[in-house]
Amino acid sequence: MNRKIVLLPGDGIGPEVMGVARALIETLSDIAGARLELLEYPIGGAAVDAAGEPLPEATLRAALAADAVLLGAVGGPKWDDLPPERRPEAGLLALRKALDAYANLRPVRTIPALLDRSPLRDARPIDLLIVRELTGGLYFGTPRGITETGREREAVDTLRYTEGEIERIVRLAFRLAERRSGRLTSVDKANVLASSRLWRDVVERVRKDHPTVEVRHVLVDAMAMALVDRPWAFDVVVTENLFGDILSDLGGALVGSLGLLPSASLSEAGPHLYEPVHGSAPDIAGRDVANPTGMILSTAMMFELSLSLPDVARAIVAAVDDVYADGFRTADLTPADAPAGVRTVGTEAFGAAVIERAARRLKSKGVYA
Ligand code: NAD
Ligand code: IPM
Ligand code: MN
Repeated sequence: MNRKIVLLPGDGIGPEVMGVARALIETLSDIAGARLELLEYPIGGAAVDAAGEPLPEATLRAALAADAVLLGAVGGPKWDDLPPERRPEAGLLALRKALDAYANLRPVRTIPALLDRSPLRDARPIDLLIVRELTGGLYFGTPRGITETGREREAVDTLRYTEGEIERIVRLAFRLAERRSGRLTSVDKANVLASSRLWRDVVERVRKDHPTVEVRHVLVDAMAMALVDRPWAFDVVVTENLFGDILSDLGGALVGSLGLLPSASLSEAGPHLYEPVHGSAPDIAGRDVANPTGMILSTAMMFELSLSLPDVARAIVAAVDDVYADGFRTADLTPADAPAGVRTVGTEAFGAAVIERAARRLKSKGVYA
């Protein structure tokens, strides 16, 4: 039976990077003999324009019935003044919640040929995994909203976590740490927030089931500093929704561009959601200059984690490294004084270079041919 992949291009550069992902999936699934059906639906501002709401029923139904969901990005100035529940971002949050995509894995890895694009002096390679809780905290807590109190307006957001919500993301982070270096950093604000004190307590309890994992608790403000000071010292970093959002963009800057980072948003029962970390980048949309690497690597995560095709995932990751080693760069990674051998290319051309190399790698993995 065909497996169904739902593609949600969204807004701004979303459709541009999704175009690359679609071509990549078509080419590689063909070579791997995987029968995939690609179904495209609107989300975000595009869905507001087409159907009056950011997550139309048909989009949600298709996503829930899919084997995996791939998302570009949502949002843009055109929809910024809509009421909160009709904003593009509300559609994305509702989708994550409906899929119960609670575990957002955001790998931050230095691409070897891009070590010189780190803003850090004497940069060393970074390879960390941010595990961000994605369906709780300030993003979803109620009450929320702006109210008139008479004299002036008042705004409320609620930071709520249940013990169960914390426990499932923490358990996953421990398992990932065991598979990686055995080091886990839990980031919170336990000196101020009740939700963080519960978070820390749960980490300490779960820790007893993983005696080989070395655990450190770091306050989020100190973590922002440490990530700039010595990011290579960290491996798995687990944290709540908003802290993870902020620290992962910082991670993008550390490895050269936000456009490089992929993510997988995992649920307990599937389907999982795959999305680059960056947004719709309205400032560069429509010009074929967006970096599609975050979207391409999100596709690799999908091949491994949802489609059980780790060879395809490996071919994609290796092809991305190859393309950068061969000197291809999108504008975000081209310095004014670019060294000889570096060529600036557009989104599509970059994507085509990755697809060609990934296809070659995948075809040549046999022993005799
Ligand atoms: P952004 O991530 O869209 O852009 C931040 C900066 O990074 C911009 O200068 C942009 O040009 C650059 N950038 C981002 N992705 C890039 C890429 N692939 N290649 C090259 N450069 C890239 O964040 P923002 O500007 O704060 O937000 C713009 C809109 O995107 C907002 O409406 C926001 O809500 C939305 N957003 C959506 C998602 C998502 O859909 N997952 C994530 C973040 C922001
Ligand atoms: C992200 C984005 C989203 C988030 C927004 C668009 C709702 O910033 O995926 O990182 O805050 O989760
Ligand atoms: Mn973000």
